Amino acid sequence: MSGEVLEHEGLADLVRQRPGFLMLYKFAIEELMTKLRILSEEFDLAHRHDPIEHITSRVKRPEAIEVKARRRGLAPDLAAIAEGLDDVAGVRVVCPFVSDVYSVAEMLTRQDDVELLRRKDYIATPKDNGYRSLHLIVRIPVFLSDRVERVKVEVQLRTIAMDFWATLEHKLFYKYESQVPTDFATELANAAGLAAHLDSRMEDLHQRLRGPVDELGD
Ligand code: GTP
Ligand code: MG
Repeated sequence: MSGEVLEHEGLADLVRQRPGFLMLYKFAIEELMTKLRILSEEFDLAHRHDPIEHITSRVKRPEAIEVKARRRGLAPDLAAIAEGLDDVAGVRVVCPFVSDVYSVAEMLTRQDDVELLRRKDYIATPKDNGYRSLHLIVRIPVFLSDRVERVKVEVQLRTIAMDFWATLEHKLFYKYESQVPTDFATELANAAGLAAHLDSRMEDLHQRLRGPVDELGD
């Protein structure tokens, strides 16, 4: 066993010994959740349509941080994790329609204190296995008693249909990584295509109904 691996084995402990480190990510998630809840409620009032179905979040566990830091070849210290890992804090936003995914992403990233670091559109360009979602890496300020910390959060936005597929795919195959048998992989990608087809039909209904609703006014 190499010295580097041994060093990394202490990384989860190091994270646990510094409660302030993961607390920052928890605060960043709370800030982001508040922003999303405000958008959801206010957009609903203004447009009679709530663009967010539900939101979940998690802070990565110390063990998972250690595993990923090792895989990425990061130095075994907290600064390297903060710099090198984008998903210590993760927020997943599930929207009714595809157009909601893009509106929520747009409304969030145009806020002055939300800095967009990276955007991966797996809806426009799905992964080979069929995975679809819009991923944003944002950085937001967390105001502490004596300083401001800018903290990264991974935001995954997807429709209910995309979430249905991704959740089941994760249960079935994500652990196999690239070793999913070819016939299963084809079936899986086909199933993702069906979900996307359903999304576009529902989007079409949504757009057709939205016209009359918007015309009703307040
Ligand atoms: P990770 O090392 O997995 O974080 O990948 P990455 O840094 O290349 O980022 P990417 O944006 O591709 O994926 C980030 C996250 O999106 C993953 O941790 C999963 O939560 C989710 N994700 C990405 N690809 C898939 C997939 O094929 N299936 C499922 N179920 N989730 C996925
Ligand atoms: Mg990840």
